[in-house]
Amino acid sequence: MRAKEKATARLMDEWRVKGKPASASASEMAEVVLPAQTNVLGKLLGGHVMHMVDIVAAMAASRHANSYMVTASVDYIDFRNPVNLGEIVMLKAQVNRVFTTSLEVGVEVFSENLLTGERKHTTTAFVTFVAIDEFTRKPRPVPPLILRTSEEKRRWREAAKRREIRLAHRLREKG
Ligand SMILES: CC(C)(COP(=O)(O)OP(=O)(O)OC[C@H]1O[C@@H](n2cnc3c(N)ncnc32)[C@H](O)[C@@H]1OP(=O)(O)O)[C@@H](O)C(=O)NCCC(=O)NCCS
Repeated sequence: MRAKEKATARLMDEWRVKGKPASASASEMAEVVLPAQTNVLGKLLGGHVMHMVDIVAAMAASRHANSYMVTASVDYIDFRNPVNLGEIVMLKAQVNRVFTTSLEVGVEVFSENLLTGERKHTTTAFVTFVAIDEFTRKPRPVPPLILRTSEEKRRWREAAKRREIRLAHRLREKG
């Protein structure tokens, strides 16, 4: 093995045991809003936003866990402002909290007007993923999350409250 590959393998082992900082898996995505993705009012379709939210959140989740991940639930998504035809839609995702085999990713969506440069926060969403073992196809543990900033600690605390609500809801559904 070459020195660079050895160093990468060492880092991966360390991450598996000690965990990974949220910044290591933070992910972003952007695209220009085209007519095929808008409604008759020229606003980006909510379903398209949800699709992009799932993709960018899966990127952050898989980068953290270095594993196949499945979407277990989307427990919160709101649309505060529309994104207009011709604007740029930008998504930022970060792992908020790791549980055992699951983790929560928070996604924020922004619009940017190309002519004025104005940016707006349009959507917030929280998505839970479960890591799946590539051979057994069963849930497998996820590496811990290392928190560095006060913002990351706040997100981590708030994720616990959301998990309580979502698992209570899941138990009710199971009856
Ligand atoms: C998500 C899934 C793997 C959970 O399987 P399961 O047999 O219920 O697993 P378990 O009860 O052992 O729970 C495993 C983890 O999932 C979490 N989980 C399960 N259902 C959940 C839900 N609805 N919301 C949030 N977390 C959930 C559990 O809390 C547990 O997390 P933890 O280990 O961190 O505490 C399974 O329901 C599944 O495969 N669903 C379909 C996923 C899918 O097709 N997604 C869309 C395409 S990617």
